[in-house]
Amino acid sequence: MRVSVASTTAVAVESGAVVVGLYAEDVKKHGATIVALDRKLGGQLGAMLDAEKFQAKTAQVTHLHTGGRLPSGGVVVVGLGARKDTTPEVLRRAAAAGLRRARDLGARAVALEVLGDRVPARQRAHAVVEGAILGTYTFDRYKKEKPEKVVETLTVLTTDARRAREVAQGVGTGEIFGEATTFARDLVNGPANDVHPTHLARVATEIAREQRLRLQVHDRAECRKMGMGAFLGVAAGSQQPPKFIHLTYTPAGRRKKRVAVIGKGITFDSGGLDLKPADGMLRMKNDMSGAAAVLAIMRALPRLAPPMEVHGLIAATENMPSGSAIRPGDVLRAMNGTTIEIGNTDAEGRLTLADAMSYAVSRVEPDEMIDMATLTGACVVALGPLCSGLFANDQALADRLLAAAEAAGERLWQLPLIEEYREGLKSDVADINNVGPRGGGAITAGLFLKDFANDKPWAHLDIAGPAFTDKDGPLGGKGATGVAVRTLLTYLTAHA
Ligand code: BES
Ligand code: MN
Ligand code: ZN
Repeated sequence: MRVSVASTTAVAVESGAVVVGLYAEDVKKHGATIVALDRKLGGQLGAMLDAEKFQAKTAQVTHLHTGGRLPSGGVVVVGLGARKDTTPEVLRRAAAAGLRRARDLGARAVALEVLGDRVPARQRAHAVVEGAILGTYTFDRYKKEKPEKVVETLTVLTTDARRAREVAQGVGTGEIFGEATTFARDLVNGPANDVHPTHLARVATEIAREQRLRLQVHDRAECRKMGMGAFLGVAAGSQQPPKFIHLTYTPAGRRKKRVAVIGKGITFDSGGLDLKPADGMLRMKNDMSGAAAVLAIMRALPRLAPPMEVHGLIAATENMPSGSAIRPGDVLRAMNGTTIEIGNTDAEGRLTLADAMSYAVSRVEPDEMIDMATLTGACVVALGPLCSGLFANDQALADRLLAAAEAAGERLWQLPLIEEYREGLKSDVADINNVGPRGGGAITAGLFLKDFANDKPWAHLDIAGPAFTDKDGPLGGKGATGVAVRTLLTYLTAHA
């Protein structure tokens, strides 16, 4: 979808369909835009809203074909709810619903008002463009029949000359955030037979070339030299060669800080010798959602140009059972020297993250590090499919991330790192075991990782619940969600 801004009105714009907003309290008097449209439509739009008893609840939609009485073929009216409850999320959802209706009417060129009037114009413009992109996302790469109805161009309308700059900026960042999220979705939706570690490394190479980022890809031999025994242990069962990916964004001016962003990159999690049952394995192509988020974030950063140095790190491998796979009871040595007893080969994510974090500590020396991982089923049990878990050894960092998630419209809830539970990770033969008891499984996973942060400010996002969905939602259909991309982009650009 190509996005642009035009300084014209919903009445004057020529499009397949024009999407306009309506607040619930404006339903009776129809609102200024609708009154203006109705002057050309002979009152038919207002009459339709009255006849339908349109209430303008958030993201409620209706439409009218203009029959040549306006330059646009259709008018889509989208409800915005009560004016006082206007949030960026309301506007995202309203834009998404409006764009879907315009698409279903067959409009290829859609015009969209900067919906609402309660949030600053830049934020509103950002929200509606983001909502438009996310709400119309589809994944049809593997289908012979492609959808016929596709929105090709989106024109954001602004008539307020004083706000034109703000709107243009908001449209720009909304497009970058939206596209970064769909980029991550595409990677996660791609099946594991195509999206393997070598593929992720290739994608990183393309991103580095296009965005002029520094890239290092370490193969198995180099990882062995660096002592990444935990990561390579997980990779031992797979025919797919592991890849350790390190992308670096360096700001043009002085940097405010250096951040390492780490993504769990298990391109397929079978469980290993502790094999998952069929239903548990079915969606495990999504076990690289953290890695997809890292790639999407690194690709977007140069265009957002925040004044920090950002290192994107991914230890990419499959987790497969075979004659060369690690066994329960094996002992691995992580890059920082810690020995790990394998209590369960299905707790593989923390093993790969242990080496990625050790690498960050010793090779990147960041001011802070943030990992994103589809790490535990326990976190899904705790928070469900709509909320990620947050763990941190630094409350200021946690608070900044919570604020960023709120602004980005993603749910994030902090869970405690209860030190007493560390007892559950005791091993008789090694420094630590990779699994604890069932209860508090998201917390013991967090405690395991905490060791590898070496007291650097660190935060861990357990995205196991929201990374993938079986239900159509307001901002996207079944499949990958691209969760955490917008939170991290908000964080990295807002806390400059
Ligand atoms: N990738 C899974 C976690 C997961 C589960 C993500 C469900 C998304 C949905 C992870 O590698 C895993 O298998 N974790 C185990 C850990 C256990 C063996 C301690 C789990 O959560 O069952
Ligand atoms: Mn697993
Ligand atoms: Zn996993």
